[in-house]
Amino acid sequence: MTGSGPYEAVVFDLDGVICHTDHYHYLGWKSVADDLGVPFDETVNNRLRGVSRMASLDIILEQYDGAPLTDERKLELATTKNDRYRVMLGGMSPADLDPSVRATLDDLRGRGLKLAIGSSSRNARYILERIGLGDYFDAISDGTNISRSKPDPEVFLKAAEYLGIDPARCVVVEDAVAGIEAGQAAGMYTVSIGDAADLGAGDARLGTFADLSHVMADLGA
Ligand code: BG6
Ligand code: MG
Repeated sequence: MTGSGPYEAVVFDLDGVICHTDHYHYLGWKSVADDLGVPFDETVNNRLRGVSRMASLDIILEQYDGAPLTDERKLELATTKNDRYRVMLGGMSPADLDPSVRATLDDLRGRGLKLAIGSSSRNARYILERIGLGDYFDAISDGTNISRSKPDPEVFLKAAEYLGIDPARCVVVEDAVAGIEAGQAAGMYTVSIGDAADLGAGDARLGTFADLSHVMADLGA
């Protein structure tokens, strides 16, 4: 056993939890929505949290009233969004990692907890490299190793499998309601931050990332 309490690992969502790439997702989709003349705001954007790229496009297109789009055109739109998003990611550096996030991660690791990523993104490894966490996590489960995105538990169950730890001994940290639902479906203890916390989701809620140290201490870690 690694941790001393009932929990041995923490699985983190990436976009909107470890770093603020959720805002870049917003800007990328907003530019595509503007090109299409489709209304797009934070309310629509919050529905995209934790959702795969193509499923996000389908949500945006709910308000599109032009002729039906072919699968080829949809792929083109998703690629355009991703290309613009990747330009923004390319401008990221270790300075984009909040020092309190890094200090909290180090604190949790110092208590013997294993730390993993559970993200729907296919860009997760690139983002982690950009912010200086490329080699940091004990396991990474992301959009490249799943066939169903959140609220399906697959991404978190894979993270637990890669860590070799029982899902019931894992804590999930999420900013997406769909991610909290995925964590619950995986049988994990769920902690919300940001949008999901504002909506009262999860077993515990964080005001700031650093609050996680207290939550884990309360859980006996
Ligand atoms: C999730 C984001 O982490 O990754 C979603 O919350 C995003 O908004 C999804 O759609 C897929 O990301 P990517 O980088 O593969 O397009
Ligand atoms: Mg997120």
